[in-house]
Amino acid sequence: MPKAWIQERKRDYYYKKAKEEKYRSRAAYKLFQAVEKYHFIKNSDIVVDLGAAPGGWIQAARKIVGSKGFVLGVDLKPIEPFSEHNVRTIIGDITEQETLQQILELLPKKADVVTSDASPNISGIWEVDHARQIDLAQQALKIAFETLRPSGNFFVKVFQGDMLDDFITKMKKHFEVARILKPKASRAKSSEIFILGIHLKEAAD
Ligand SMILES: C[S@@+](CC[C@H](N)C(=O)[O-])C[C@H]1O[C@@H](n2cnc3c(N)ncnc32)[C@H](O)[C@@H]1O
Repeated sequence: MPKAWIQERKRDYYYKKAKEEKYRSRAAYKLFQAVEKYHFIKNSDIVVDLGAAPGGWIQAARKIVGSKGFVLGVDLKPIEPFSEHNVRTIIGDITEQETLQQILELLPKKADVVTSDASPNISGIWEVDHARQIDLAQQALKIAFETLRPSGNFFVKVFQGDMLDDFITKMKKHFEVARILKPKASRAKSSEIFILGIHLKEAAD
């Protein structure tokens, strides 16, 4: 990792806060801030978190759903286990059908919320990274269609770029409300933004 990047990270407000408050990533605050604004995860909810390693969003979601909810994290990489009885993690590729099957087997019932912070390895080429990110968001949306209960919510990371409009149009088609968010904890210079779909209209293609 470049030295300048490590130094910048150490000065970062949310990086320090995550260390102090024992969150596994500064990303946890992005989810907290989005939920604070739109209340799309509630106490006792069942949440599926895609692209979940190292587990900051899992921790944030578990805090919101409490001991009566359930959080299932999925990532290509192994996630260090959690002590809470109602948090499970699996190693899986969200582009594979097999992963969807595993999710369905582990869920106690249909999910109230699907979140996805999944990101590809960044190439540095804007168009390539944008296209790969949209592809992961589409895969996450497919999983949401299969795992969400009617009126469930979906929160997903995308990068800005020319394929975004089509994705937002799709979100508007399948959810009663679609919102674009840039939580404060998301770095201003990052092209990431988040799309929130509130209330899935129906089981979709
Ligand atoms: C930005 S990190 C997620 C951080 C996480 N939200 C947190 O708070 O700790 C993005 C993750 O997406 C995962 N990922 C990328 N492609 C994936 C795929 N096809 N299936 C599952 N996970 C994937 C990466 O392995 C990486 O751990």
